[in-house]
Amino acid sequence: MPAHKPLYHFLPDGVSFTSREIARMRLIYLPLSGTTADGLKSCVTPFLGGDVKIDKNTFVTRPASREDLRQALRDFFVLVRGKGVFSLAAESSPDSASVEIGQLWQKITRRHPSAGIEMEAVNFVPVSGETVELMRVTVRNVSRRPVRVTPTSAVPLFGRALANKHDHEHVTSLLHRTRQLPEGVLVSPTMLFNEEGHTEIRRAYFVFGLSGRGEKSVGSFPTFESFYSDGGTWSSPAAVVENLPPRKLSSAEINGKETVGALRFKDETLKPGASREYLIMFGTASDPAEAGRVFRRFSGAGAFDRAWDEVKAFWRGKTRSISFASRDRDFDSWMNWVMLQPILRRIWGCSFLPDHDYGKGGKGWRDLWQDLLSLIMIEPETVRGDLINNFKGIRVDGSNATIIGEKPGEFVADRNAISRVWMDHGVWPLLTALLYIHQTGDENILFESATYFRDPQLSRGMQKDLAWVPSYGRHLKTKSGQVYEGSVLEHLLIQHLVPFFNVGEHNLIRLENADWNDGLDMASQRGESVAFMAMYGGNLFALADVIEHAAQTGSFEEIQVSREVLTLLDTMGTVPCRYDSVQDKKSLLFDAYFPSVQPEISGEKVGLPVKDVAADLRRKGNWIFGKIRDEEIVTVKNGGKTHRWFNGYYDNQGRRVEGRRDGKIRMTLTGQVFPIMSGLAGEKDIKDVIASVRQFLKDKALGGYRLNTDFGVRNDLDLGRAFSFAYGTKENGAFFSHMAVMYAYALYRAGFVREGNEVLRSIVRMCGDTGLARIYPGIPEYFDSEGRGMYHYLTGSASWMILTLLTQVFGIRGEYGDLVINPKLVKEQFSRNGEAGSSFSFAGRKVTVVFENKAGLDYGQYAVKKVLSGEKPLEVKVLSPACVKIKRATLKGRGELVLRVVLGK
Ligand code: G1P
Repeated sequence: MPAHKPLYHFLPDGVSFTSREIARMRLIYLPLSGTTADGLKSCVTPFLGGDVKIDKNTFVTRPASREDLRQALRDFFVLVRGKGVFSLAAESSPDSASVEIGQLWQKITRRHPSAGIEMEAVNFVPVSGETVELMRVTVRNVSRRPVRVTPTSAVPLFGRALANKHDHEHVTSLLHRTRQLPEGVLVSPTMLFNEEGHTEIRRAYFVFGLSGRGEKSVGSFPTFESFYSDGGTWSSPAAVVENLPPRKLSSAEINGKETVGALRFKDETLKPGASREYLIMFGTASDPAEAGRVFRRFSGAGAFDRAWDEVKAFWRGKTRSISFASRDRDFDSWMNWVMLQPILRRIWGCSFLPDHDYGKGGKGWRDLWQDLLSLIMIEPETVRGDLINNFKGIRVDGSNATIIGEKPGEFVADRNAISRVWMDHGVWPLLTALLYIHQTGDENILFESATYFRDPQLSRGMQKDLAWVPSYGRHLKTKSGQVYEGSVLEHLLIQHLVPFFNVGEHNLIRLENADWNDGLDMASQRGESVAFMAMYGGNLFALADVIEHAAQTGSFEEIQVSREVLTLLDTMGTVPCRYDSVQDKKSLLFDAYFPSVQPEISGEKVGLPVKDVAADLRRKGNWIFGKIRDEEIVTVKNGGKTHRWFNGYYDNQGRRVEGRRDGKIRMTLTGQVFPIMSGLAGEKDIKDVIASVRQFLKDKALGGYRLNTDFGVRNDLDLGRAFSFAYGTKENGAFFSHMAVMYAYALYRAGFVREGNEVLRSIVRMCGDTGLARIYPGIPEYFDSEGRGMYHYLTGSASWMILTLLTQVFGIRGEYGDLVINPKLVKEQFSRNGEAGSSFSFAGRKVTVVFENKAGLDYGQYAVKKVLSGEKPLEVKVLSPACVKIKRATLKGRGELVLRVVLGK
């Protein structure tokens, strides 16, 4: 049970919800969005605050950061004769409003008892591709007397770039050319202002409107001056308060001014119970004519309702592609919102929501691969091309472009033109590729060809190619000038082999400019990341396994790789390397490998025996595991107990980060998660880690797990900016969902089911304590020390949550294309009649697995007794008592497949 009064209640459809509490909150927000990255992105609060944009250059309205949400953006005013001005966004009595929210639509209802009216607004962005937000306003007479009203709608337009929120803000308003049209207000700025190169544009920003009876407005107030006047505010515009009549402005009055789409509708007398509707459309179009077409498309009778139905159906289709049924119905509903998040992140990237005010669009490398995890589970067949294209972002030094461009396979280096290398970037593509291979059985993807990314950055940012110019192209070339292509497998090998040699003074992999924790960005000279070194180690074993498996399936004995890669497979090559020697490793990389492939590669391929490649990879994996096990476990005595856990880092002074320093316990969750997830940690290590995490990172009051202990410093300039954030926020000790979910995942995978469940429950509980978390359903990037959910929606933790639930908790996953069922549900997760289940897609069809646990057995007590399709038992291979495998061929067919998995002693 949540500890605080719930913020909302789910409605019977199990997705939408309603609340009066929320209607009083100004900082809570819902994204409204088109379906693609180039579509419209809005966000809306219960007070109709937020903003509307497509990308960093195309802000329909003023960019809104968190605190800007206190101001309404969209509004609808009614001047009620004898009563004054009332609006959708302004409260007139505390209990007068409520919200209803569904997947990507919002309805607010506000009552103004003293005026005898109720106003309602429904907002959404259609899914049919138009870059417009639609808002239908209803004004209803809820009194017993007729009321006479003068209605005015208002949405201030910005019509320029994010940067102009402050930079050249007034100057860029001078570019506005604004028109008063019968449909409303349209501004078409003369150029996209950019001192590095201005561009002429035809783009139009507009606010159009009409009444529910199809009547156009009676006029408009298109500028701030004409609408607000010098004395007015956004919530109290002079044109409304003083009931000014609209008029046609002169060119001097209208052009080069801040624009507002304020539309006056004709006066109405509403009989008791009567209502009037108004449809307001605001957005942007490639040119003014297109804006007119958008207006006509949505002005027909019933168009709004049809578009709203389409919105509901579209997002339902997306978020119900994987669903869960457990004892907790609210949890199942909540998961429908978590399912939405990876889709939102593919559309939004990590930008454009009020908390995400650092983002300028595009997607980061790590995030790209995380998002694909859930897409692979949702529609595995469609991601193959994307996967291959993404490998084209890898450089021959194993690093990668950081920003993914608009078109498939298009990459750019850091948008801020800083050469940065995140040392963890190499581990994620393999995790994603393996999930794809297991879900589909398509091992051939490893042998597809892909180019390599090329820019002036060489040798993992340690060198710069001053001769490189953009006209050279962004692909690695051979010495004879051809664009070089290597297999996906070769890309993966390079991503793992280069870091293996790229060690610092403790012979651990260098931290470079940061790892998963973007906030560890100040230890690039001497920092090392044990955490991700562990993961590279585990990945080396996984690579060896998948290569051998592919060779067995495809009956081949050799793989083709670039001749230079042999240097990195040193046990097979000519450059001997003693792994205990930092110097040997450095010279292999900097004196042999890098000079051989940069600036150009030979283009020659060699065939290498699979068994030798696998042996080389395992040897390296073993070396990493041994090194960390032997040297990186810290032991700390505290309160009479001895605690053991993994050290995750070395700082820029070469000092070990974790342990006790200046009387403070320093511990990171990241440092523990990857030794477990990679398979490095043994059973005893995991038990020790669990105990230490409970002691030092589990918050006694909130029950969640923190990213790190309080280092008690004002700054840690030898590690990174994270420690300058207040303790308990973001990357400094917040309850960081992504890492907590990965911790749970790692525990489940290692067989620590109860412990994994405890971690997952803590996250779900914090999300479910809605009165404290104060966010809509879904998983936020983190919770702060007060339990408030922050940076909602756009977080990699959603993908990981879905992955963990489906493949670990419900235990349903692919294995080289076959289906493995290995439930790790604990007894409380089964419904009262002993059932739990999940629907997902596999082998090209929808599959529903229903677990039957009639005896109410706990994990560890039950075994899989049989698997039934209808009444028919399916042929399964028993891998262990609670784990069976079903051949892919057995699952082929059409329509939904329902499997009943009977559990018993
Ligand atoms: C965010 C970033 C992610 C990064 C993490 C920690 O996490 O998107 O790339 O690894 O911060 O710095 P997210 O919002 O995905 O949970």
